[in-house]
Amino acid sequence: MEFTQLLENRRSIRAYKENTQISVETVKELIAAAQQAPSWKNSQTGRYYAVSSKEMLARVKAECLPEFNQRNSRNAPLLIVTAFVKGIAGFDNDASPVNELGDEWGAYDLGLQNSLLILKARELGLDTLIMGIRDEVKLRELLGIPESEEVVSVIAVGYRDIEPKKPVRKEIEEILKLY
Ligand SMILES: Cc1cc2nc3c(=O)[nH]c(=O)nc-3n(C[C@H](O)[C@H](O)[C@H](O)COP(=O)(O)O)c2cc1C
Repeated sequence: MEFTQLLENRRSIRAYKENTQISVETVKELIAAAQQAPSWKNSQTGRYYAVSSKEMLARVKAECLPEFNQRNSRNAPLLIVTAFVKGIAGFDNDASPVNELGDEWGAYDLGLQNSLLILKARELGLDTLIMGIRDEVKLRELLGIPESEEVVSVIAVGYRDIEPKKPVRKEIEEILKLY
């Protein structure tokens, strides 16, 4: 798929086809695409927890997502919990923050990675929903995510069962200043 078309065609999908599956090979393809992103000193601090077994999928949805996101991700056969290792991106070798953003650089790098992940998903005919509203403590417990990592989003992956309208974007003039 041509890149501009891919950008236009990707949508946050909140209704997925029933009884679908995503193979481990495909999961690895998505993560490999994410890994192509640039990162602070090539530190690659993004971490991924892919959940697709029936029992774990049901538990993560029921125990770690609020009701509206359970609904939004219903029938999605894959959830990817995204995290990053703290204290590396944005930090000197002596562990002091290089500037005021500190660990926000880790979140920045993860966001770059996740952009590639959701675009790769679309290229493969898959759809996604990034969910920022989730229970971090329960995700940690259930998936054994260590305190050295910051838990960020949960990305639902599946096949769209809806053709949503594109939410309106701001005018370029509103977000760009030219000097
Ligand atoms: C960081 C982040 C967190 C989000 N959290 C949620 C969420 O918890 N639930 C949800 O339904 N959508 C969530 N979204 C999806 C946005 O609402 C969506 O991207 C936005 O409305 C634009 O629509 P589009 O992705 O189709 O272009 C999130 C998106 C981002 C980038």
